[in-house]
Amino acid sequence: MLFFYGAYGFTGRQIFDFFRSNFPLQSKKIIISGRNKEKLDDLKQKLKNEFPQLDVLPATPFDLQTKKMDGIKLVVNTAGPFSDTGESVLNFAIENGANYIDCTGEWNWTKKIIDNYDKVLRERKLFASSGVAWETVSGEICVKELVDKLKQEGKISDVKKFILYILQILLCLVEH
Ligand SMILES: NC(=O)c1ccc[n+]([C@@H]2O[C@H](COP(=O)([O-])OP(=O)(O)OC[C@H]3O[C@@H](n4cnc5c(N)ncnc54)[C@H](OP(=O)(O)O)[C@@H]3O)[C@@H](O)[C@H]2O)c1
Repeated sequence: MLFFYGAYGFTGRQIFDFFRSNFPLQSKKIIISGRNKEKLDDLKQKLKNEFPQLDVLPATPFDLQTKKMDGIKLVVNTAGPFSDTGESVLNFAIENGANYIDCTGEWNWTKKIIDNYDKVLRERKLFASSGVAWETVSGEICVKELVDKLKQEGKISDVKKFILYILQILLCLVEH
């Protein structure tokens, strides 16, 4: 069973578009969850023909913490800010023996998982993968390639100086 929190948000809906064209998930049991019941029911109406085993669970992240559900393999969290939702949704996953992924860009939340949850995840043989999103990955790869190229061409000798230079440009943009 797959569990999607924040399913009716932009990223959540994209996931179902992706499944529709790439993975035959029709036979899988799916729960879509989020804090707004109307939006969940609306999404269910749109998806029910293609995903007949789909159910809804209206719940705030706080509500989730006490919910027990058998058989969840993976919890996908697309409800951000993750500094608000992440911890409760991750705890829900762990308490129900499920793996967890999210699409955060909040490095402090990802660090919190590493700092505070590594031990319990290892003990329970679960994984949490935070920051799963091509949007930032592709940007980071481009920046790394640019830095490597500039270093090779001798245009920058020090990455720290390069970052300070970029920060100065950003500050200029913010100020004007
Ligand atoms: N790292 C990346 O590359 C990347 C890429 C895409 C998105 N993101 C992040 O992913 C998140 C979702 O983006 P999006 O574009 O899909 O945004 P969105 O369309 O605004 O969806 C956000 C979802 O989060 C829910 N939500 C927000 N605060 C909540 C809370 N306190 N409790 C429960 N649900 C809450 C919203 O529910 P309601 O409608 O009920 O408010 C909505 O379902 C954002 O944090 C965004 O920054 C990161």
